Amino acid sequence: MSDLKPLEIVKELDKYIIGQDRAKRSVAIALRNRWRRRNVDAELRDEIAPKNIILIGPTGVGKTEIARRLARLTESPFIKVEASKFTEVGYVGRDVESMVRDLLELSINMIKSREQEAVQIKAREIAEERILDILLPEPKDRQNSNVHELNEPHIDLQPVGEEMPKPSTREKLRKMLHEGKLNSRYVDLEVPNRSMPMVEIFSGAGMEEMGINFKDMLGGMMPNGSSKKRKVSVTEALEILAQEEAQRLVDMDKVVKEAIEKAEQSGIIFLDEIDKITGKEGGSGPDVSREGVQRDLLPIVEGSTVTTKHGPVKTDHILFIASGAFHMSKPSDLIPELQGRFPIRVELHSLGKKEFTRILTEPKNALLLQYIALLRTEGVHVSFDDEAVENIAQVAEDVNNHTENIGARRLHTLMEHLLEDILFDAPDIEEKNIAISKSYVENKFKDIREDEDLSRYIL
Ligand SMILES: Nc1ncnc2c1ncn2[C@@H]1O[C@H](COP(=O)(O)OP(=O)(O)OP(=O)(O)O)[C@@H](O)[C@H]1O
Ligand SMILES: [Mg+2]
Repeated sequence: MSDLKPLEIVKELDKYIIGQDRAKRSVAIALRNRWRRRNVDAELRDEIAPKNIILIGPTGVGKTEIARRLARLTESPFIKVEASKFTEVGYVGRDVESMVRDLLELSINMIKSREQEAVQIKAREIAEERILDILLPEPKDRQNSNVHELNEPHIDLQPVGEEMPKPSTREKLRKMLHEGKLNSRYVDLEVPNRSMPMVEIFSGAGMEEMGINFKDMLGGMMPNGSSKKRKVSVTEALEILAQEEAQRLVDMDKVVKEAIEKAEQSGIIFLDEIDKITGKEGGSGPDVSREGVQRDLLPIVEGSTVTTKHGPVKTDHILFIASGAFHMSKPSDLIPELQGRFPIRVELHSLGKKEFTRILTEPKNALLLQYIALLRTEGVHVSFDDEAVENIAQVAEDVNNHTENIGARRLHTLMEHLLEDILFDAPDIEEKNIAISKSYVENKFKDIREDEDLSRYIL
């Protein structure tokens, strides 16, 4: 888990998200608190519950974005779920637990790939030996190694030519292999056939609750049915074998154990759209009632044990970050037990011209930079005057005020409209340097901006 200080976390978030300082501070503190908790005496450690957060704010102001960036920043397992999906038809209460299973699955993958990374060098060495075995089979071992061979993925031999290699031949070949001289040679390799579409049908939700994994079951039942022979280049074979060996070298029991620990201690679950599950009535139709979903969520947020096929996972110390617009409802409309589980409330404010100007230009992945990069692939160099940028921001604010406030998402629709012609003509455009000026922007938006109905449809 990352041990960034709160200030460092905020700094990182600043690279992508403009403003919303309070929200950034809160998530930074929550994250740091987990690191602190880990350093507390064991006895007290278990008593310290995470301080879950609700991010409140209108649509398109960076709630999800903050969570998304936080995920990349920390090395904690992190998943995002829409609370509202649990109210949909087809979901039964128990499925709320699936988020914990997903979190664990993610945690396992994280640790597995880290472990596989760590054994890369060793795996490569073994793969290299296996390639040499293929290229240069040793006749004397052949007869009595059959038993041993059965367990190994079978490798077809493609002799290099010499019948009785001298001991040094292998070393010569090894040297050639290292120098890349054998890269274009082809070998037959038995590769596991990973796509088993038929099996997917069975492995739907619910199966997991029973602790059954059909894929593993069937995979175990027909070990030979699931591989096929392929002709691959030595380079590719090295890659495949190294991966195979890496998987074999990693101790999955250890991985799972660590993954559970990690999910329990530093996992973060982002509960989006939490406002959609307030209110007693479940809306229309046979939807699961919203309050019902809250009740289902409660034990998980409060701390309980969820059974997964890898073993039980305790949710006591998982950090929950909820988010919602709370237009029609307030956090106080949540059932009291759940409210108490989210002691920190942060409001994100709606965005105006000043923020839009910065959002267009400042973040590392700023929208303008994206368009500039896209068009550069066609040899077209666009640039934006400061005044033009301000103008776009102003239009965004106006349109948001007059029609619906969709926050920074407005910038996306505006930019598409603004650059439509250039994006269309770019491949054949004569003038390769295009400076977008204030008047260009004004022209583009002149008619639409004044006509409210038109802007509803176009922008
Ligand atoms: N403060 C901000 N700084 C930079 N980009 C932002 C900001 N707010 C929103 N954006 C951009 O706007 C888009 C929508 O933001 P986001 O997904 O975070 O909205 P949200 O607050 O989760 O809205 P909703 O309530 O609809 O889920 C994203 O592409 C995001 O990059
Ligand atoms: Mg969102």
